[in-house]
Amino acid sequence: MRKITIAVDGHSSCGKSTMAKELARELQYIYIDSGAMYRAATLFALRNNLINNGQVDQKTLISKLDQICIEFKYNESSQKADTWLNGENVEEEIRQLPVSQNVSPVATIKEVRQKMVALQQAMGQEKGIIMDGRDIGTVVFPDAELKIYMTASEEVRAQRRYDELIGKKQDVSFEDILKNVRERDYIDQNREESPLRKADDALILDNSNLTPVEQLQWALVKANEIIQQ
Ligand code: DC
Repeated sequence: MRKITIAVDGHSSCGKSTMAKELARELQYIYIDSGAMYRAATLFALRNNLINNGQVDQKTLISKLDQICIEFKYNESSQKADTWLNGENVEEEIRQLPVSQNVSPVATIKEVRQKMVALQQAMGQEKGIIMDGRDIGTVVFPDAELKIYMTASEEVRAQRRYDELIGKKQDVSFEDILKNVRERDYIDQNREESPLRKADDALILDNSNLTPVEQLQWALVKANEIIQQ
């Protein structure tokens, strides 16, 4: 059966990764979380004291980009791919608030994006890949056979992220999460470099009122239609 490339873009915390991961499992495709790569770069910047009060020392970060090695390695126990930064498993740490609060400005830096996009395109050379992010259908894989643009209301997305963090016993407030969701939307949509926007040929999936099973079914039908063409 022919293999295709599937690009999933959309706002933060709208369930892109949940849907993309499950779709990849159903189709036996490789799943890549491109946001994890920007998060790992942000963790690198934080650890090197290159972010102070939300201000990124862009010049130094750019000069150190070749010291950042990001990999995905399959974790047998969780049965998921974990994100590794310079030989260390950082999957947990990149999901925490310090990284979430600083990742958007890091993701606006042109040189950071160029490095990530080159890595992502190399990962997708063989097709049979599902990648989620903000610029996958517009910049990384403009020729993807299936492009999905996902969205959900701000409150629904903040609630989902809040539930996830509370489930992990993190001490967070709903208001902070909602504020973070809004700020990230604003920066993602208004930055100069590859802003989040729907590709002209992307299909819209608003999952505010859909269960994960319903949205997976929707995506599977679309993917199979294209694969069997
Ligand atoms: O998907 P996420 O919330 O883990 O993404 C983290 C940040 O990285 C988010 O602020 C947007 C940015 N990002 C991006 O600019 N381009 C991508 N392809 C993926 C994520």
